Amino acid sequence: MGGMRYRQMAVDFGTSNTIVAFWDEEKKDVVLHEVEDVTRPFHFEQDGLTHRIPCIPSLIYYENRHTTFVGEQVIAKMLENQQGAFRWMKAYIRSGRKINFSLPDGSAVDFFIAARDFLEKVLLFAAESGRADVQNAEVAFTVPVESFEDYTDWLSETCRELGIKRYRFIDESTACIFGYDTHLQPGDVFSVFDFGGGTLDVSIVRIEEKVDRGRGCRVLGKAGCRIGGRTIDGWLYADLLSRAKVQVVDARPASALFMQQVEQIKEYLSDHTSREYDVEHENSGLRLKGVYHRGELEDLLEKKGFYHDVHETLERAESRSRERGVDRSHIKELLLVGGTSQIPSVRRLVSSFHRNVRFYRPFDAVARGACRYLTSEIEDLYDHIQHDYAIKSYDRRARTYRFLTLVPRGTRYPTEPEFKKLSLAAVRDQQRFFGIDIFEISEKGATAAGGSGEIMFDLNGQIVFDNGGNGGFAGNEFWMNEANPMFIEAEPLAEGGAKRFSVSFRVCAQKNLRVTVRDLLTHKRLYDDYAVVKLK
Ligand SMILES: Nc1ncnc2c1ncn2[C@@H]1O[C@H](COP(=O)(O)OP(=O)(O)OP(=O)(O)O)[C@@H](O)[C@H]1O
Ligand SMILES: [Mg+2]
Repeated sequence: MGGMRYRQMAVDFGTSNTIVAFWDEEKKDVVLHEVEDVTRPFHFEQDGLTHRIPCIPSLIYYENRHTTFVGEQVIAKMLENQQGAFRWMKAYIRSGRKINFSLPDGSAVDFFIAARDFLEKVLLFAAESGRADVQNAEVAFTVPVESFEDYTDWLSETCRELGIKRYRFIDESTACIFGYDTHLQPGDVFSVFDFGGGTLDVSIVRIEEKVDRGRGCRVLGKAGCRIGGRTIDGWLYADLLSRAKVQVVDARPASALFMQQVEQIKEYLSDHTSREYDVEHENSGLRLKGVYHRGELEDLLEKKGFYHDVHETLERAESRSRERGVDRSHIKELLLVGGTSQIPSVRRLVSSFHRNVRFYRPFDAVARGACRYLTSEIEDLYDHIQHDYAIKSYDRRARTYRFLTLVPRGTRYPTEPEFKKLSLAAVRDQQRFFGIDIFEISEKGATAAGGSGEIMFDLNGQIVFDNGGNGGFAGNEFWMNEANPMFIEAEPLAEGGAKRFSVSFRVCAQKNLRVTVRDLLTHKRLYDDYAVVKLK
């Protein structure tokens, strides 16, 4: 298996489970990442086949500030409910609350730090297995439609801290659509019903040819509800305790064990009509024993207003999209995803609501779609450049590097022939080489310099941008043509200070950044529409 190195990967960081996927360029397919002791497989059957999906439970446990366990390790060691364990991190980040928790060693950690450390480990496993060079790979992260901005702010900061240079964000509902084997046509409308561990999110999404901010899908209506698999577990747990005539407070020491069992009972009841259970907590002697029927679970859910809430959430999403002129009859398919959408009564409810319901890969559709999003097949959905591309320049006054945008995201291509024009001047006498280094800037935009800038090269052949004030620190940057650098050679050698070359850039129909270089002294064309790098 080893040896394969993937250049594109996706991380679907979920409230309950995190899935890591790689894009296999040869097979043109997604490969899920399995890590011994860390991932735990979920199984689901479809068309007579059993799929094994390696999920990392979104859990981290701190033995101390620097020693952590994640995922299945935490469950296997029964550390889930111990001091120093964090779960549901994503839900806390979405709510924006910073609460400090002290670790056994006395240091303090909040959910933001815990999630960062969790993701760091997850990425480390990918790096350690040799599957990906995380620092240089393209990494797509899924982001809930709701709280998109705040959440991506946190994520881009995190990516920077973790040294990921080429990160992309994709909203979870769009990713789900890409993850289904759906043939996508502009104008198609889908409803995505994502029922996970923490929340139910319903989004109505239209595939569009022209969308800002680099998304091929437009979310027309969305609605969320803070019920998820864990909410059901809580209800079921309380019900099992009351059947055993045990008070919730008294059961506290056994709650981690019981909750695990409860989740299993619930999941089992999705495929079977009843489940016998017998679980004993040795230290306390507490015991839960009996039979639970699927019908009883359904009654419980009914009593808790669960179906009502699900129905209301569907309605709410649709009424929002109706305000934008899209009603139910426009929806081509309703796509079900998320572990909780496996509950038969949930599927029945959704099917009574909508005639074209599709159910496919509840755990990995989102991660798969996020991974596919990085590939050329999806890229063709976009008619514009999705990232900022810049040239690196040195600000002599501020003595820092800055990035001068050549092609901002959202640019339609092909562009006009001289989309961006610059003139180059040498900074010293007898300068021979001038390098043209193109960088891709993730998320936080580079500074757009208005009009044609003046650039000069410093002693190392680095570009010096000398246009006064505008500029600033950009986001994370990735050197696109590092393996294949481009130079302009001055012949005769350049004289310091004098404008020597005129350089113009355009983006062609194949998304290549093309450069034309004229020598102002000799009037020679040194490069004629030369392709430097392919943009995305
Ligand atoms: N067969 C099943 N029947 C019912 N529930 C299930 C089944 N399998 C898994 N679940 C539940 O699905 C939930 C996890 O779903 P999923 O992995 O989609 O959530 P997530 O992506 O981590 O969360 P979110 O998208 O809300 O951030 C858990 O509560 C789990 O108990
Ligand atoms: Mg999810």
